[in-house]
Amino acid sequence: VESLDPEFGSRASGHIGWGRFPSEEPIMSAIISLLTIIPSDYRNEVVLITAGPTHEAIDPVRYIANRSSGKMGYALAQAAQKRKAKVVLVIGPTSLTPPPGIHTIPVTTAEEMRDAVHKHFERATVVIMPAAVADYRPDQPAETKLKKQGQEPMSLKLSSTPDILTSLALQKSGQFMVGFAAETDNLIEEATRKLKAKGLDMIVANDVTKPGAGFGSDTNAAVVLDTHGIVEDIPLMPKRDMAMKILDIIRLRLDHQKQTLHTV
Ligand code: CTP
Repeated sequence: VESLDPEFGSRASGHIGWGRFPSEEPIMSAIISLLTIIPSDYRNEVVLITAGPTHEAIDPVRYIANRSSGKMGYALAQAAQKRKAKVVLVIGPTSLTPPPGIHTIPVTTAEEMRDAVHKHFERATVVIMPAAVADYRPDQPAETKLKKQGQEPMSLKLSSTPDILTSLALQKSGQFMVGFAAETDNLIEEATRKLKAKGLDMIVANDVTKPGAGFGSDTNAAVVLDTHGIVEDIPLMPKRDMAMKILDIIRLRLDHQKQTLHTV
């Protein structure tokens, strides 16, 4: 059974929120993918995927977060599962229902995400990180609810969180590593910088200011880069199709790596 998530918008009750019947595009795309013969070409791969934001506590009732919905990570996990990979999905707080049949590890903070990812890294053959990990967290989260001090301005002292991909690069033993870069400007330059700084094999860069490619959307458009430059410019399409495309690109690279190893 294949189920689609409800959409956001005005509902029959007159309220605005989640609960609308999905529009034609995701329904058609789901039907097409059900009718398409999907290769089992990830049968021998263990794919570790992260999804969603992280939440960093300010006090027991407040946190710092970002607009990531987790949809791209979910789409990748479901696509890899369909292609018969063993999938481990580490997810930050999202409103999505965990995909059935996938080993899903819910986490809240960047540190928890780092620990979960490290725990499963060794046996992974492919690591894909669309998660929007918080870069900073409140230095000393308050143990009790912070109280408003009249109209006085308030400041929070933040400390940096661990960079998960950078820490993985130090322990890499053949895993194919894919990062994501959601940018508002200098897309290619920023993505290339991150690809190199984080020791990645590939990065998927998307301009979140483009209509249909922003946070929470069911569609995405992206440029895929490796250390030699642009690999593919993926036009706007449903995230589930983009997930399949990204897996196609990774598969080609894994096969190429294997061939090169054989030749050597
Ligand atoms: N990432 C990570 N650990 C972090 C922050 C980001 O592993 N603490 C990963 C993300 O999952 C993504 C990639 O690094 O795959 C790029 O994330 P992004 O937030 O775009 O990059 P940053 O290095 O945080 O740079 P900036 O926020 O300044 O753009």
